[in-house]
Amino acid sequence: MKIYRSLIVLAALLFITTGCNTRSTAKPSSLSAKPVKEYQDLVVGFAQIGAESEWRSANTLSIKEEAERLGVELKFSDAQQKQENQILAVRKFIAMKVDVIGISPVVETGWEEVFQEAKDAGIPIILVDRRADVPEDLYVTYLGSEFREEGRNAARKMIELTNGNAYIVELQGTPDSAPATDRYNGFREIIKDYPNMLILDSQNGDFTRARGREVMEYFLEEYGPTISALYAHNDDMALGAIQAIEEYGLRPGVDIKIVSVDAAKVALQAIIDGKINVSVECNPLLGPQFFELALKVVNGVPVEKRVPSIETIFDINNAAEALPTRKY
Ligand code: AHR
Repeated sequence: MKIYRSLIVLAALLFITTGCNTRSTAKPSSLSAKPVKEYQDLVVGFAQIGAESEWRSANTLSIKEEAERLGVELKFSDAQQKQENQILAVRKFIAMKVDVIGISPVVETGWEEVFQEAKDAGIPIILVDRRADVPEDLYVTYLGSEFREEGRNAARKMIELTNGNAYIVELQGTPDSAPATDRYNGFREIIKDYPNMLILDSQNGDFTRARGREVMEYFLEEYGPTISALYAHNDDMALGAIQAIEEYGLRPGVDIKIVSVDAAKVALQAIIDGKINVSVECNPLLGPQFFELALKVVNGVPVEKRVPSIETIFDINNAAEALPTRKY
């Protein structure tokens, strides 16, 4: 009986102690969880490249309009195509203690130090449009186009347009930028199997209309009417080149077949006018996806390391239908 009573006392004591311990260490979930942020709570820094093309202006507008629509506080910086300005912008955003930093790196290399600074400050980096050559732990996700596939598609279309026989000149985008490198390589990956697709020359046109025109003038001086095709890494350079071709007395789109990338409104109009044959789409309207990712990241929701944008190809068969509703 005595033993029986002692056992009851022991059990009661055990119940009281473990019960107390459980209650005193476990916090109610509402106190331990980080408060969930809404769009209106977010402060986001965005380090843009500049305004070198129609594409870039549309991209900037998409970011700014979406921030405004969602009520996000946006700190925006335009680096005027200079990497050092983008680095300064990131440092400024770190000092401001923004929640997230978005950046379109103008070139691929040279970001490790400043991205590490952001990581040390606990500020996640989202790459938008262009990738950076850094270890994967220095950014949370990369949202943007498949530039290499754009280059491959440009080559496939060029082969169709010229029946696999062409003397090509190429206008490249900004040296060491992800789209220029990938569009260059993707194009070659396809035409290497076509011995009569010959690249006469390939030069930097810096993604701008002025430079595209200047370099095309040089190509025409150098190779004249031998040129039968132009591959431009973006529409702006193609449009600059069209001016040079017309001044030279040749017909763009007819004497010289033209394939470019972006599919901006101006290029769709040039397709309808018969001056550009094909423009491979590169979608700049990344604002909605960017802020959706930013909110997830801040709230600790897992995101994919790579988020591609959805794209198509435009030629005379679909340009007119797309033009009236085209946003850029
Ligand atoms: O990074 C995307 C590229 O940058 C676009 O194709 C070009 O027009 C822009 O300047």
